[in-house]
Amino acid sequence: MKSPQPELQNRDLQQRDLLPHLFLPALLLGCLVTGGMATAQEPLTYSRDIAPILQEKCVTCHNPEGIGPMALMTYPQVRPFAPLIKDRTTKRIMPPWHIDPTTGIQQFKNDASLSEAQIAMIAAWVDAGAPEGNPADLPPPVTIPSGSAWQLSDQLGPPDLIIKSAPYDVIANGQDQWWSPTVAFKGLDHERWLRAAEFKPSYPLGKKVVHHGHAVLVPEGERRQVALARYGVGKSWEIYPEGTGMRVPPNGRIEWNLHYFPVGAEGDGDVVEVGLWFYPEGEQPELETVGEAMFRVDGRNGMARGQDILIPPNSYQVLQGDYVLESAAVIHSYRPHLHMRGKVMSMEAIYPDGHKEVLSQVDKYNHNWQISYLYADEAKPLLPKGTVLKFTSVFDNTANNPINPDPNQWVVFGRRGVDEMSHAWVGITYLNEEQFARASAERAAAQTTLSVRQE
Ligand code: HEC
Repeated sequence: MKSPQPELQNRDLQQRDLLPHLFLPALLLGCLVTGGMATAQEPLTYSRDIAPILQEKCVTCHNPEGIGPMALMTYPQVRPFAPLIKDRTTKRIMPPWHIDPTTGIQQFKNDASLSEAQIAMIAAWVDAGAPEGNPADLPPPVTIPSGSAWQLSDQLGPPDLIIKSAPYDVIANGQDQWWSPTVAFKGLDHERWLRAAEFKPSYPLGKKVVHHGHAVLVPEGERRQVALARYGVGKSWEIYPEGTGMRVPPNGRIEWNLHYFPVGAEGDGDVVEVGLWFYPEGEQPELETVGEAMFRVDGRNGMARGQDILIPPNSYQVLQGDYVLESAAVIHSYRPHLHMRGKVMSMEAIYPDGHKEVLSQVDKYNHNWQISYLYADEAKPLLPKGTVLKFTSVFDNTANNPINPDPNQWVVFGRRGVDEMSHAWVGITYLNEEQFARASAERAAAQTTLSVRQE
C-alpha cells in the first residue's frame, strides 16, 4: 500500500453526516451573531449544554479517581482544557471509540462515541469562549462508581463466584511484564452455564498497570478450554445474549495470562479478580458460545503465527486472513488486536451467494485501548454456513502515526508493545442449521436493516 493517508482523509470528507457537522456550527453561530432572535437559543453554555454531554460521555474516566489524566466534572476543571477538548473530540480521539462511523454496522450496546451534533456543539461552545452560563442550569450531579466496584453489579447484583490470580510483585520499570500463574479451580459442585463475566484488576494499582489479560479454565479430564474472561483497557466485561452461555465445569485449573505494563507505579502482591455470573441453577441456555475466539489476520500458509509480519521502516504493511465458516454463526463482538503500528482492521463477510459486506472496520486503532465492540442484538452479524470471514490489517510504520515509537525500525511479530501482532478477538456462537433458520426468521420478523443472505 503506497499511501493510505489520502484515502483516509477522503473517507473523512465523505462522511454521510457531514451536513449537520457543517450546518450546526453555522446555525449556532448565526444565533450568536444575531444574538436575540425570538426563536433563537441563547448562546451555548457549559452549565446547560456542555455539562450534560461530559457527564454522559466523559466523567466515567475523567473523574479524580478515574483513568483519565484529569477530572472534567466542574466548570473550573473543564475550562482550562476547553481547546484540548475541542481538538480531541473533533478528531474523534476522545472518547475512545475507534470504529469507522462511515462503514459497516453502527449499532452497538456499548457505543461510547459522541454524535456529530454533540461534537459540533462542543466546538461551537469552545469557539465562543467556553462560557459558563448560569450554574442553576447544571444537570444533577452524577455519582461515580468506585474503581473497586464490580461494574456489572448494578445490572446483575454481586458475582456468583469470584476467582483470583496468584499475587504478583509489580516493578515500575516501564517495561512489559508477564505473569502466567496456574491456579486450581474448585468453585462449583456441578456444571453451570456462564451468563456474564467481569475481569477486575486491583484498584487503584492494577487499573493503572494491567494492560491486558486472560483467565482460561482448563476442565479436569477434558481437552477443551473455557475462556472465562479476557481483558484489555477499554474492555472488562462480557454479558452473553439471552439464551446464550458458556458451559463451565465444576473443577479444573485456571491459566492466567496477565500482561503488566507499569509506568511509574508499583506494588507487591497484586491480584486480579474475575467475577462470574451464572444462569439460574438448572437453567440451560439454548446456545453454547465459545466466547471470544482468536482469528489470526495473516496468510496462515502453514506458518507459525506472526511470521508474515515484517514492516519496513517508514512504510506500511497490509495483512489479510480469511476463514470459511464450517457452520452458521452469530457474531456478538469484534475486538481487533494490533500493537503500536496498527492503524486499521476490517472484518468483512463474503456470503455464499457472493455478496460482500464490511461488517465492521476500526480505522483509528490505538494500542492503548482494547475496545470490544459489542453489537446490538438486532444488528449482530448472522452468517450462514460457508460464509467467508475476511480480515484486513493495515500497519503504519511512518512518522504520520502519532504513537509510533520509531519509524526508522523494522518491525516484526512479538509480545512487546513495540513489536507487532495481527489478530481479532471475535465473540462468536456457532449455530446448527435449525438454530440458524430460527434466528434468521426472528431477524426477518424484527425487520432489521442488516441484510441476512441465505442461499
Ligand atoms: C474510557 C475512558 C475515557 C473516556 C470515556 C474519555 N476519556 Fe479522555 N482520556 C482518557 C485517557 C486514559 C486519556 C489519556 C490519553 C490516552 O490514553 O488516550 C485521555 C485523554 C484525554 C484528553 C487529552 C488530555 C491531555 O492532557 O493530553 C482530553 C482533552 C480528553 N481525554 C477529553 C475527553 C472528553 C471530552 C471525553 C468525553 C467526550 C473523554 N475524554 C472521554 C480516558 C477517557
